[in-house]
Amino acid sequence: MIAIGCDHAGFELKEEIAKHLAKRGLQYEDFGCYSTDSVDYPIYGKKVAHAVATGEYEKGIIICGTGIGISISANKVVGVRAALCGDCFSAEATRLHNDANILALGARVTGPGLALKIVDTFLDTPFSGEERHRRRIDLIEE
Ligand code: RB5
Repeated sequence: MIAIGCDHAGFELKEEIAKHLAKRGLQYEDFGCYSTDSVDYPIYGKKVAHAVATGEYEKGIIICGTGIGISISANKVVGVRAALCGDCFSAEATRLHNDANILALGARVTGPGLALKIVDTFLDTPFSGEERHRRRIDLIEE
């Protein structure tokens, strides 16, 4: 199960991503927001982050205008590794190396076509499991 969330700037891209996940047969829960009315991105970043940190949701996808504010907010929650990605190389590397559990996207930066490819790359790439990467992830939590 995937948790998705956004602020007003990310709303339209979140809708695209939700449709894409459904088309792929992937289950998701939408933590809002639900329109382009102005809201505060930390609320939605943290909602998704808590959902993922409890272990109830395997991964999260969060979107704001730049992806920066919402990823900073999500990363305040212990156990969350939110990665802001604007390309598929980073999306693949952050799964392989960082075992990132939340993907952050900037809707004002990354177009919908590329964003969907980034989503697929993130969701389809497993953690490498290599010892050096596990060690570094453990160091993050210290
Ligand atoms: C909203 O205008 C914008 O500040 C927000 O979506 C995000 O880009 C913040 O980092």
